[in-house]
Amino acid sequence: MAALKYAGLDDTDSEDELPPGWEERTTKDGWVYYANHEEMKTQWEHPKTGKKRRCAGALPYGWEQETDEKGQIFYVDHINKRTTYFDPRQAFTVEDVQVKPKRYDGNTAALEILQGRDLSDKVVVITGANSGIGFETAKSFALHGARVILACRNKTRAGEAVRLIQEEWHKAQVEAMALDLASLRSVKEFAQAFKAKNLPLHVLVCNAGVCTQPWKMTEDGLESTFQICHLGHFYLVQCLQDVLRRAAPARVVVVSSESHRFTDLVDSCGKVDLLLLSPPKKEYWSMLAYNRAKLCNILFSNELHRRLSPYGITCNAVHPGNMMYTSIHQSWWLMTLLFNLARPFTKSMQQGAATTVYCAVAPELEGLGGMYFNNCFRCLPSQEAENEATAASLWELSAQLVQQRVGPQAI
Ligand SMILES: NC(=O)c1ccc[n+]([C@@H]2O[C@H](COP(=O)([O-])OP(=O)(O)OC[C@H]3O[C@@H](n4cnc5c(N)ncnc54)[C@H](OP(=O)(O)O)[C@@H]3O)[C@@H](O)[C@H]2O)c1
Repeated sequence: MAALKYAGLDDTDSEDELPPGWEERTTKDGWVYYANHEEMKTQWEHPKTGKKRRCAGALPYGWEQETDEKGQIFYVDHINKRTTYFDPRQAFTVEDVQVKPKRYDGNTAALEILQGRDLSDKVVVITGANSGIGFETAKSFALHGARVILACRNKTRAGEAVRLIQEEWHKAQVEAMALDLASLRSVKEFAQAFKAKNLPLHVLVCNAGVCTQPWKMTEDGLESTFQICHLGHFYLVQCLQDVLRRAAPARVVVVSSESHRFTDLVDSCGKVDLLLLSPPKKEYWSMLAYNRAKLCNILFSNELHRRLSPYGITCNAVHPGNMMYTSIHQSWWLMTLLFNLARPFTKSMQQGAATTVYCAVAPELEGLGGMYFNNCFRCLPSQEAENEATAASLWELSAQLVQQRVGPQAI
């Protein structure tokens, strides 16, 4: 025996051999249990090794599981036309080892998180997916089989993004759909077009954003940074809420930023002030507008989680990384200069997409939300971002703004 072991040929199954009087059985869903005929008892643990086991796969092709009149499970082999009480899956059982969640950090790439994952049963919508972090997020999901919809404002850029992903994998299920978050009408049309496809929606990533752009009023009469980063997403989630609910458990990820820490939103009475969110031109400072919009992202994510988690929709906010060289800096030369200087020290696009991807699929986050993540790690946002009263007040104001423009039935 020792010689066999030395040669690597020892009988590794021997320890799994059952003592006399014991029989191995399986439950309907593939868990192995052990029955002792003499003592008339059953247990999950192997009587010798104490290990728990489960079937490694599904029933072989042509087999079916049925239950007889006494409630006992039996198996029908339709190909060979025979019936047995022996579960054919018992030939391939594996030890039930508690797999600890992997630890990720700021160096983790999105594709690393998805390693080994088959997402072919998932439908994902990502706003602003034609460039930067959104593009890498979309690509990562698509390369793992998910059906990915790139919700973008520019048709040409979106088409090019789809082409690039399909160039990496010709079977990637990606398509672009028109969505301009600066227009509530466009958000509504996007939602209608998406619903017309009769698809479920498992993951919605609110990623699109603009930073330090000159003051501009949207067709809905609001400052554009606020509308693109927050209100457009707020309305989008309202429009898609029923689809998300039907696909539950579903997840929403809102891409925010650490810059949320450098501002607040409330007036002296503690109410969210629309003049701070959507200021007139003479009171507009582009960086501050961005910070406020990013604070809105976390408040919205938390409130959304409070409201929708009872229906199986969870929501988390993320910071993707600092000063990553995407297109976000292009509106202001000073930002472009700073982003260029920082470029050698910042995350790659794949690393920038990692926290979003983590929040969208990590099994250990199933059912969990209302949190803020950075480097795939839960961290505390600013006190203001955690303020439930502010979140409720922002929700109320956002609902009013949408209703005033789209109609009372909009929310
Ligand atoms: N880069 C960073 O260092 C950093 C840091 C913290 C947080 N973030 C956040 O990460 C997210 C993604 O930004 P990014 O860095 O990847 O920048 P990006 O490359 O500029 O991507 C932003 C995306 O949003 C889209 N977008 C802009 N306005 C839109 C609108 N009205 N409707 C629909 N889509 C619109 C852009 O489309 P177009 O191509 O048509 O403009 C683009 O696809 C943003 O929410 C940003 O705040 C980025």
